[in-house]
Amino acid sequence: MDKFYITTPLYYVNDEPHIGHAYTTILADVLSRINRIQNKDVFFLTGTDEHGQKVQEAAEKRNVLPMTHVNEYVERFKDAWGNLNVDYDYFIRTTDSKHSDSVKEILTDLYEKGDIYFDEYEGLYSVSEERFITEKEKEEGAFRQIKKIKEKNYFFKMSKYQKKLIEHIKSNDDFILPKSRKNEILGFLKNNLNDLCISRPKSRLSWGIEIPFDKDYVTYVWFDALINYISAIGYKKDNKKFNHYWPADYHLMAKDILTTHCVYWPTMLMACNIQLPKTIFAHGWWLIDDTKMSKSLGNVIKPLDLAKQYGSDALRYYLMRNMVLGQDASFTIESFEKRYNADLANDYGNLVNRIFILISKYFNNSIPEKAKYDSVDNDFIKNIENFTNSSIQNYNNMKIHDGIENTISIFRTVNKFLENKAPWKTIKENKEIAGTTIYLSAEALRIGTILLYPIIPEKSIQILDSMKCSYKDNTTFGNLKENSTIDIIKNIFPRIQN
Ligand code: MSP
Repeated sequence: MDKFYITTPLYYVNDEPHIGHAYTTILADVLSRINRIQNKDVFFLTGTDEHGQKVQEAAEKRNVLPMTHVNEYVERFKDAWGNLNVDYDYFIRTTDSKHSDSVKEILTDLYEKGDIYFDEYEGLYSVSEERFITEKEKEEGAFRQIKKIKEKNYFFKMSKYQKKLIEHIKSNDDFILPKSRKNEILGFLKNNLNDLCISRPKSRLSWGIEIPFDKDYVTYVWFDALINYISAIGYKKDNKKFNHYWPADYHLMAKDILTTHCVYWPTMLMACNIQLPKTIFAHGWWLIDDTKMSKSLGNVIKPLDLAKQYGSDALRYYLMRNMVLGQDASFTIESFEKRYNADLANDYGNLVNRIFILISKYFNNSIPEKAKYDSVDNDFIKNIENFTNSSIQNYNNMKIHDGIENTISIFRTVNKFLENKAPWKTIKENKEIAGTTIYLSAEALRIGTILLYPIIPEKSIQILDSMKCSYKDNTTFGNLKENSTIDIIKNIFPRIQN
C-alpha cells in the first residue's frame, strides 16, 4: 500500500484559531481524505508550537506557569479541528517529551559533528519574530520591535549547505510549489546565507528546550518546531515507522513561512543526512479588505462562529472552492453566503430534494429500474463520466477548486437532464422511461456526492447513507443498485436568507 504523509504548520498555541489556520488544516484534511479513498496509507499530522518568548510572556501576564498556560490553550485548536471535522492522525505539541528528546538528540549529533558552534554575535533582533534579522530585512519593514543585541550563542552552519540546497531545488521541480515560490527562494539564495543562531540564553528566555550540552541555553523556537515533522513519526527511536512515512509527501503552509521551511529545514535535514521532503507547498493568504488576517490587526474571522451558524461543511466548502491554490483570496460574508446559496442550496440541495421527491412520489421510495437508454441518456452518461474524470484528476493535481467545480457541473447537468426529460410527465405514459431518467439522475447524484465527500464529509455521508451507499464506493457509472429503498431526507442545505 502506498503511503501519503502530509503536515500542516504547528500553529502558535497563543493564537486563537482563525480562518487562516482553518484553511491549511482543512486543506490537509481534504487531501488526506482524497488519498484515503484511493487506498493510500495516510498519515496526517498537525499540532501546536508551544515554546518561545510570546508564550512565556502570556503565561506571566496570566500569572500561571507556561506549561499550565499551553495545556489550557492547546484545547482551542483541538476543539476547532474537532468541530470542523478534521480527521488528523496525530496532534503533536512541541512540549511533548518525545519531541524534545528528538530535538536534543539532533542538537547533540550536530554539535559532535561540528555543525553547531559557539560564538558571540552582535546584530538586530526582532522581538516580535523572535529572531536576528539583517539590515536589509529591517529596511524591508516586515519586522517589528527591533533592537540591537550583543550575545553569545550557538550557531548552526547553515551556510555550509547553501550550494547543495540550490542544486536540490534546481533539480527537483516539485520540491517547492507553486513555481513562483521556488523562484522566490532561488532569488533569496543568490545572497550568501548566514549561519543560523539556534539558541537563546536562559537569562533572557527560559521557556524552551534546554540545549543538551549547555544548561544556560534553550533552543530557538524554529529549530525546535521544524523537527516535529520527523519526531512525530518516530525519529530516531522508531526506525520502522520513520522509514515508512518519511520523506513527507507534502508540507503545507502559507507563503509567510516559506524561508524557514525551504531554507532552514532542508539544510537541517542535510546536516542530519536525512532525505528532504518531496514537496513544500505554500498557498496564498486569506485577506480581509486586502490585508492579511492577524491577531495584531484585530481582523480575524473565527472559524467556529461560522461553522456554528452554517455548519462545518458550509465553511469547508467555501474555503476550498473560493481559493485558487497558490493565490490570495478575499474573505467576505457576502461571498460566503452567495457561494453557499448558489452551489449548495440551489444546484446541489435542490437536486437532492427533487430526486428524492420523485423516487418517493412515483416509485414508493425505491430506486427505479433502468430500461433501454436513448441517445440523450447516452450523451448524459458520457458527460457525467467526463466531469467525474476531470474532478478526480484535478483533485490529484492539487486543483481542488476546479475539482469541485467539475462536481457541481455534474449536478447542473442532472438538473438540465431532468427538465429536458420531465419524468413527472412521461410517468403518465411510460413508467419505464421515467424510471430510467430517475435512475440515471440518482446515479449521477451518488457519484457527485462521493466526489464531494473529502470536502463536505458530514452532509455527503448523510446523503449517501440515505441512498444506502457509501463514500468508499466506486465512482464508475452504473453502480447504483436498482430497487434499493431510500430514506427520505428533507432540505439538506437550507437557503441562507439575506
Ligand atoms: N509556529 C509557526 C510554524 C511552525 S511550523 C514548524 C507559525 N505559526 S502560525 O500560527 O503563525 O501559523 C502560520 C500558518 O497559519 C500559515 O503558514 C498558514 O498555514 C496559516 N495561516 C495563518 N494566517 C493565514 C491567512 N491569513 N491565510 C492563509 N493561511 C494563514 O508560523
